Amino acid sequence: MSSETPTKTVTVALILCVVFSFLVSTTAVVLKDKISYNQEIDLKKNILLAAGLIEKGSVSAKQVEEAFKKVEPIVVDLESGEKTSLSPEDVNIKTDVKFSDKSTAIEPSNDVAGLGRRPKNATVYLVKEEGALQGVILPIVSKGLWSTMYGFLALAPDTKTVKGFGYYEQGETPGLGGEVDNPSWKNQWVGKEIFNTEWEPVFKLKKGSVSSSDEGKEHMVDGLSGATITSEGVTTSIQYWLSQNGFGPFLTKIRNGEY
Ligand SMILES: Cc1cc2nc3c(=O)[nH]c(=O)nc-3n(C[C@H](O)[C@H](O)[C@H](O)COP(=O)(O)O)c2cc1C
Repeated sequence: MSSETPTKTVTVALILCVVFSFLVSTTAVVLKDKISYNQEIDLKKNILLAAGLIEKGSVSAKQVEEAFKKVEPIVVDLESGEKTSLSPEDVNIKTDVKFSDKSTAIEPSNDVAGLGRRPKNATVYLVKEEGALQGVILPIVSKGLWSTMYGFLALAPDTKTVKGFGYYEQGETPGLGGEVDNPSWKNQWVGKEIFNTEWEPVFKLKKGSVSSSDEGKEHMVDGLSGATITSEGVTTSIQYWLSQNGFGPFLTKIRNGEY
């Protein structure tokens, strides 16, 4: 005759539940610091990669920390372009748009990139060497076909010449919109100019390939083939974020030597 009874089975199940939930929560607590450190290193790595300050490949956390020493994160008020007293931990480019006190609705006539809302404050990164400004790195949010894409655009101190660009998060189709991650395509951005002589953000992805005879080729990179919607999302978001409704006021201050 079996010695199993319903009471015994339930007791064993309960003990297992308690033991495993204790193990899982202990592991989560023990690893919490490690996870947030890794997330911090990952963010720094993405910023440095987009700016071309490190090469893609195996870079240790120590190398990331070392390279990041010349990067100064500051939180700016988008409307005024002024530095705020907030710290980068106080703002979140992804989630602030969900809160009415942390973001504002974009006027439909200005919402060229279809973003709907923008944060009031955002973290930007000043690249400095011995106190002299070497560049600035801006967060960029773009709407693709399937996903919201998050990346960084690095500019020279003249605020118009691109030093580097890259998304660290996107969900477009590999081989189509996903080509936003293609290193040779991203290399095309380096040296291009975002603004025209009137300081209008005219940079765009051309439908097709940029040729040496194209007028305004200094403001263009190739469009992504078979991915017109993703390409449009990249173009319109760069034009939005670099406009007076995005980082325009901050970039004016950079040009005036205020940073
Ligand atoms: C499975 C599948 C995946 C697609 N992925 C993308 C994409 O990531 N980005 C994009 O812009 N278009 C994508 N498209 C194509 C769009 O539906 C649309 O046809 C295209 O953007 C038009 O671009 P074209 O004028 O260059 O052909 C995809 C289409 C299919 C069938």
